[in-house]
Amino acid sequence: MTFRTTPVASLLWLCSAALPTFAASPPPMAQACSPGNVLCVEVTTDNDGRPSYAVLRDGRPVIAPSRLGMMFTHVPKFERNLEIASQARDSVDQTWEQPWGERREIRNHYNQLTVTLREKTGPKRDFDVVFRIYDDGVGFRYDFRRQPGLEQADIAEELTEFTLAEDATAWWIPAFEWNREEYLYHTTPLQEVGDAQTPITLRTKDGLHVSIHEAALVDYSGMNLTRVDGRKLKAALTPGSGGAARVVRATPFHTPWRTLQVARRAGDLVESSLILNLNEPNALGDVSWVKPMKYVGVWWEMHLDLKTWAAGPKHGATNENVRRHIDFAAANGFGGVLVEGWNVGWNADWFGNGESFSFTQPYPDFDLPALSRYAQDKGVVLIGHHETSGNAAHYESQLGDAFDLYQRMGIPAVKTGYVADAGQAKVRAPDGGVVYAWHEGQDMANHHLRVVTEAAKRHIAVNPHEPVKDTGLRRTYPNWITREGARGMEFSAWGQPGNPPEHEANLVFTRLLAGPMDYTPGIFGMHTRAPDGIATTWAKQLALYVVIYSPLQMAADLLDNYEKNPGPFQFIKDVPVDWEETRVLNGEVGDYVTIVRKERGGENWYLGSLTDEHPRELQVSLDFLDPGRRYTAQVYRDGEHADWKTRREDIVIEQREVSRGDTLPLRLAPGGGQAIRFVAH
Ligand code: NOJ
Ligand code: CA
Repeated sequence: MTFRTTPVASLLWLCSAALPTFAASPPPMAQACSPGNVLCVEVTTDNDGRPSYAVLRDGRPVIAPSRLGMMFTHVPKFERNLEIASQARDSVDQTWEQPWGERREIRNHYNQLTVTLREKTGPKRDFDVVFRIYDDGVGFRYDFRRQPGLEQADIAEELTEFTLAEDATAWWIPAFEWNREEYLYHTTPLQEVGDAQTPITLRTKDGLHVSIHEAALVDYSGMNLTRVDGRKLKAALTPGSGGAARVVRATPFHTPWRTLQVARRAGDLVESSLILNLNEPNALGDVSWVKPMKYVGVWWEMHLDLKTWAAGPKHGATNENVRRHIDFAAANGFGGVLVEGWNVGWNADWFGNGESFSFTQPYPDFDLPALSRYAQDKGVVLIGHHETSGNAAHYESQLGDAFDLYQRMGIPAVKTGYVADAGQAKVRAPDGGVVYAWHEGQDMANHHLRVVTEAAKRHIAVNPHEPVKDTGLRRTYPNWITREGARGMEFSAWGQPGNPPEHEANLVFTRLLAGPMDYTPGIFGMHTRAPDGIATTWAKQLALYVVIYSPLQMAADLLDNYEKNPGPFQFIKDVPVDWEETRVLNGEVGDYVTIVRKERGGENWYLGSLTDEHPRELQVSLDFLDPGRRYTAQVYRDGEHADWKTRREDIVIEQREVSRGDTLPLRLAPGGGQAIRFVAH
């Protein structure tokens, strides 16, 4: 990873940096702005000594004064009786390189304001709130020093608030519900939000887009939001395990960053790198062993109930079936083959239990050494699978052996799974017993990092399903390659309503702001166990490979469906998974979006465009193409009669010559999409 630092910055900043600090008579307010003066933050205390912050964009309030504070289980809270003791400033302008990603280079350009808040009377304990102010968003976190009266600082609740200055429409999923992050998005007025997970996305009456989330969730519980009243949202930390505090910590420590992305265009939320920038740089050194790839798998057939995870007459992970997948992957240029149901333990009550799983003992009809050799001889790798049923304690007891085995077998990536209802994961308690935990609580956040670091020692990448939320830790641990953490394609396989046509247009502007998702696109066989089947056209399935960013990207369908449809399958074979550059050409939350990406290490561009249940005609200007080149555009578009309900397979594949400056009309069918590969001459 290269790291370039360039000197900062604006004259204005130098002037404000020269402001004196007010040690003797505390200042009533601390204030700082982003490098381009787009966003400003103001911190004040009221007559009661309650601190609050506000965020302004172009001088207009976005976040009205909103409280800051922390409530502890064993020492007095920080909420009132506080004054601004001092403020300090810093600024940074660096460019860093992602080892893999949606773009190669990322600029990290911010002004920092550190506000020290101190108790006016009593023990005069203090803490810092550190703000990093970018042109496209703000991150802030609490920093607690070790001091008398704050040695152990177990957290009962975080008192951070986010009060929107204007009414807004909100896109959100409920928090603290049994199905974790796997809910359809609600679109409601802000005033109807209940308990919500982050990222939550809002569009104000004025048309501004705001996303609230967090960055670098390490040794802390995930933050949810509860609407207190009116436009006020308040942090609601995920509960701790075994009835303990929400967060158990000794000082010194700091919280994760609370993040606010603020943009005029919805697409600018997607282009923002705020979350990654607020994470620490790569801690793993050379990560050239982390390889983005497309993969197929012994998987969809289980979700359609054609095969089983458990041993028996319909067992999916047999030598024969796995060899068939390896042959297919090798013949079609896929890097990996995922195999689920390979290990002992998939009996009828695996769900939410997990004690039966062995992570080292294969079923007798799955010859792991022979299959991994067979794969490697063909230039393909196996992708491992560890379903834990949320029993992290049981999994950790085998973790070292499990990863050692995969390392010996040359397996460079593992999908993990935590299928258990929210609050029903299991972790080891300090006394050695096992207690129930939340998937997004401190103990599970720590568990995932243990898995990722143990895997890294063996050069294995990790893709958790039913995970802790993504907060950009892939920057620090680049083998944390992707994850689920939302309603994936699998919902459209099961015998219940699947994902509706607007689902992906919601995901792009909400969950995906947090990071990559293993959504598992590419389904052509539209008849599933769900009453409506898959609610998209084929062209939209192809568009998903560009729209949904994931360095591990599955071609999820039954192999037969690809063999029968070589035309549209060609796009899935061609599309890369690692990008030099990414731009969002247009889009509205929950309605439609068009994203273009340039492949890393190549000259070709790719476009994915998709819509909800409404047909659309979009004009896109090809200004993103490199100047002075001609391209053959290989177009995969909805046919005249395409429709997500009646004619999913109506797809037109055609070519045209284009260059920068041309305008292309994109006609999207109801529930449809379009995918284009621009091949440079
Ligand atoms: C749920 C995961 O999302 C899915 O991909 C997996 O096949 C099953 N759990 C079984 O582990
Ligand atoms: Ca899942």
